[in-house]
Amino acid sequence: MKERFLVSGGAPLSRSGKGDGAKNSVLKLMAAALLAEGTTTLHNCPEILDVPLMCDVLVGLGCEVDIEGSTVRIHTPAEVSPDADFDAVRQFRASVAVLGPLMARCHRARVALPGGDAIGSRPLDMHQTGLEKLGATTRIEHGAVVAEATALHGANIKLDFPSVGATENIVTAAVMAEGRTVLDNAAREPEIVDLCDMLNSMGARIDGAGTSTITIDGVQALRPTEHTVVGDRIVAGTWAYAAAITGGDITVTGIAPRHLHLALSKLKLAGAQVETYEHGFRVRMDGRPKAVDYQTLPFPGFPTDLQPMAIAIAAVADGVSVITENVFEARFRFVDEMQRLGADANVDGHHVVLRGVDRLSSTDVWSSDIRAGAGLVLAGLVAEGVTTVHDVHHIDRGYPNFVEQLRELGAEIRRVSDSKHAAN
Ligand code: UD1
Repeated sequence: MKERFLVSGGAPLSRSGKGDGAKNSVLKLMAAALLAEGTTTLHNCPEILDVPLMCDVLVGLGCEVDIEGSTVRIHTPAEVSPDADFDAVRQFRASVAVLGPLMARCHRARVALPGGDAIGSRPLDMHQTGLEKLGATTRIEHGAVVAEATALHGANIKLDFPSVGATENIVTAAVMAEGRTVLDNAAREPEIVDLCDMLNSMGARIDGAGTSTITIDGVQALRPTEHTVVGDRIVAGTWAYAAAITGGDITVTGIAPRHLHLALSKLKLAGAQVETYEHGFRVRMDGRPKAVDYQTLPFPGFPTDLQPMAIAIAAVADGVSVITENVFEARFRFVDEMQRLGADANVDGHHVVLRGVDRLSSTDVWSSDIRAGAGLVLAGLVAEGVTTVHDVHHIDRGYPNFVEQLRELGAEIRRVSDSKHAAN
């Protein structure tokens, strides 16, 4: 059933909220549970659509999975199937995270490739080159990536770009390879650190996670573990930008503010007062935000997943902002929707120039991916009138209880299904 959000502009966010576990971590941790026979338990899992989808993938590979609130238990059998070429895998991009664990467990894997992505092309060449360095052959065949090896051995690997997914697949493939792997130009995202922490608690020997060089000494076998998923910096960052754009005052807990350092610094430049605590932050904004330039970069740079929120705030800021996208080439597609809300935006290649306007005005807009959808909701929170955001299934893939959480923070937003009955 198609659902949409009705967002009323004008209410400043003014309360407190607790962040959930990170989408971009939990899915990889679930895949990593394939590495050890027995029951791996994950706490602080967000209630998002991608979690049951990943459960379906794991079940298809031979696991049993129980979900109880925010705890997910994965029971991995002695033998897992290397063949992940089925519909559940094609439904979402993160399913490719089973590639590394399957190579480690089975020395072969067939993983269906997901369909086209609204934020730009997402090739797997770095994943493949990394696995080849570890001793595998790889090919794309009938819409799946196929990798095979007689044995995996340690290697020196240098990524062309610090890809999050390639770093994860190479690390998970190398944990049980013979000898030492040194991965240079590795991604440094907090979700990589979370994955390596969990793998180490399973008996892996990984050093340097969170830096550009990760060293993995292969071990014979891993054991199951119990792990708490790191807080979601993108969801927490979304609430921070929602507070700033609405002239609000919110406190968010359950997140390490150092994971959002640059995003919060940019808010300070925009005029917000930001206080940070060990496990949270407070953002307050009085009056109109100032224009600020942003450029997205791998961590610790400004996250590409918060770029739509940066565009939303720049759209109503005092002055001209330039936003540069360096990670995904097609991520500006949603700027058309921002223009429909009255944003004065000009896209030029991987830059967008925004001349802040005094006010946006409501209309119907369509989300094209998780983060673009959230950016449109933020714009709706300050647009005059009631904005209708369509295709909200994208938002539900990445934000647990999006409407409830925003309402708890003080927003006026509700979910409506096409049958016209309000769902909440
Ligand atoms: C992950 C996140 C996504 C986030 C992104 C960057 C998940 C499920 N998704 O995506 O939310 O926006 O990190 O922080 O964790 N690339 C190649 N070849 C490859 C691999 C990547 O060219 O083999 C390119 C991509 O097309 C993209 C860039 O590298 O332009 C970054 O991609 P990557 O860091 O791999 O992102 P994902 O892991 O797909």
